[in-house]
Amino acid sequence: MPEIAYVNGEFLPLEQAMIHVEDRGFQFADAVYEVVRTYRGQPFALNEHMARLFRSLDSIRLQHTFTADHLKSLITEAVRRAGFVESVVYLQITRGRAPRHRGIPSKSEPTLVITVRELHSVAHLRETGVSVITFPDNRWARCDIKTVALLANVLAYRDAREAGAYDAVFVEADGTVSESTAGNVFIVTGNKVSTPPKGPRILSGVTRDKILEAARATGLEVREEPVAKETLLAANEAFLTSTTAEIIPVVAVDDRKIGSGKPGPVTARVYDQFARMFTQK
Ligand code: PDD
Repeated sequence: MPEIAYVNGEFLPLEQAMIHVEDRGFQFADAVYEVVRTYRGQPFALNEHMARLFRSLDSIRLQHTFTADHLKSLITEAVRRAGFVESVVYLQITRGRAPRHRGIPSKSEPTLVITVRELHSVAHLRETGVSVITFPDNRWARCDIKTVALLANVLAYRDAREAGAYDAVFVEADGTVSESTAGNVFIVTGNKVSTPPKGPRILSGVTRDKILEAARATGLEVREEPVAKETLLAANEAFLTSTTAEIIPVVAVDDRKIGSGKPGPVTARVYDQFARMFTQK
């Protein structure tokens, strides 16, 4: 099965896909992106991903003529051409190609790239859980924009892996948790599920919204509220959410056990409810 890329109007094997060296995505990370996955071969929550993509494009005032319908049909076509059982679709839009200068060019054609790779499930982590480290949130102040400028995430993730952990959870100067390097953070305290509120310190995850909906549907109390690092450490359960990973239970933070030190029952219940969103269609 081929790994597929779509670059500026053309489908081609991933190996042959090329971007110009003066593309502003490459030079300045002047670009935004989305990651979509399939369930039963169909892209999941495409409307929600498109809504966020257009918000990201507006936030950086990237001029374009893309429509959500056009991008949705390209994604669907790319998935079809790749033919994997389940796919991960990566879509990136850059401000295009121009001589390198920080000034935004008055005329540049945006670059659109879509790649499709086979999805490798991490479902086994729901059985084992993972450990994370905390890491100072040294990212810029617009984490709500899904930009490709992810160097701070890359470096925090490296430190986590070097420490033998699965990932890092960012902690703000005020002692509250924001998110992990590629997902949102939730805690369970008694009958209550909490996650940090939407705002510039986190990416508003598509999965986050679905999980909040699922948690409500199971009768849990749901709160979008600041979560102090101490509250995370004292929680009964904790988990990370993202498109590709769905839910990953966190069983230790900085080598301290969370709850029983094993994936908890509330996390499992919320996951089962979430799973109905893609098994009952
Ligand atoms: N990451 N926060 C950050 C920093 C992320 O990178 C992601 C997703 C999320 C969760 O968003 P969603 O539920 O919409 O996937 C939160 C994607 C999957 C990635 O970069 O691979």
